[in-house]
Amino acid sequence: MRKFNDKIVYITGGSSGIGLSTGRLLAQLGAHVIVFARNETRLAAALAEMEGRRVKPKQMFAFRCLDVTDPEAVRTVMGEAVQSFGTPDILINCVGRALPHYFEEIDFAQFDETMKVNLYGIWNCVSALVPHMKSKGGTIVNISSMCGFMGVFGYTDYCASKFGVIGFSQALRQELQSYKVKVSVLCPPDTETPGFATENLTKPEETKAVSSGAKIMSPNDVAMALIKGIEHDRFMIIPGSEGTMAYLIQRYVPSVLDWFMQSAIRKAQKKRM
Ligand SMILES: NC(=O)c1ccc[n+]([C@@H]2O[C@H](COP(=O)([O-])OP(=O)(O)OC[C@H]3O[C@@H](n4cnc5c(N)ncnc54)[C@H](OP(=O)(O)O)[C@@H]3O)[C@@H](O)[C@H]2O)c1
Repeated sequence: MRKFNDKIVYITGGSSGIGLSTGRLLAQLGAHVIVFARNETRLAAALAEMEGRRVKPKQMFAFRCLDVTDPEAVRTVMGEAVQSFGTPDILINCVGRALPHYFEEIDFAQFDETMKVNLYGIWNCVSALVPHMKSKGGTIVNISSMCGFMGVFGYTDYCASKFGVIGFSQALRQELQSYKVKVSVLCPPDTETPGFATENLTKPEETKAVSSGAKIMSPNDVAMALIKGIEHDRFMIIPGSEGTMAYLIQRYVPSVLDWFMQSAIRKAQKKRM
């Protein structure tokens, strides 16, 4: 874990959930942590937690208010951050949101917002920072989801955005390899975060049935998997054995996963009738 000592790490969405847990762990590993999100009060509270875990006096901690869906703002704020704190060695794009609903209840405005937050937000931050990172080398981790490699009932807009994150990241990894910039994706399962609590408010019964037996991970365990994934330069970082199993089944015997999900969906639909 010495790999993280004195590294400059930018975390978008670092004021809550998985991003916050990652910042805390990296603070304990001697990294300089700069976090970005919209709400200043939550950013300040998150930063205080990270600073509380510093391991040396010269470690740098800072935050900047930023809406990642605004490409102009991202260019300006990231440009200023590079001037003030230096080019990041590690960029972790952790912003994302899910609002599960039946497909016909998702209007264009929701689809558009989901794509802007989950996919365009990553595009905006990567676009602003790659020109700097190319001359230094480093690592970019984009947060996708298990919904980034398997379709799940109730998540049509979310799956579209998270599948996009994986395709984007795989292509970018090839382009940046010669500049020694590594690109990875993190695909968490259900994780106990404020975002997950919001997500649970609108889940259709079928969506709950599909994931009812699955383990819910802690954000700290997910953050630990993320950090280990960076250390070992894995492209697909999938926290937990259940997630890895689902990935392998989806890849090699997708009909098994489909059968399992369809039977859970049918049972939930019978109960609704
Ligand atoms: N939790 C899960 O079960 C789970 C499972 C799979 C994948 N994921 C993915 O993991 C990532 C983190 O999820 P989480 O549950 O930890 O989220 P969370 O607790 O809701 O935190 C989201 C973070 O993103 C920031 N944010 C939201 N919209 C933003 C915007 N437009 N611009 C800048 N910052 C913004 C939030 O702060 P502000 O609101 O102040 O901006 C907050 O810091 C997401 O990409 C999510 O899709 C989560």
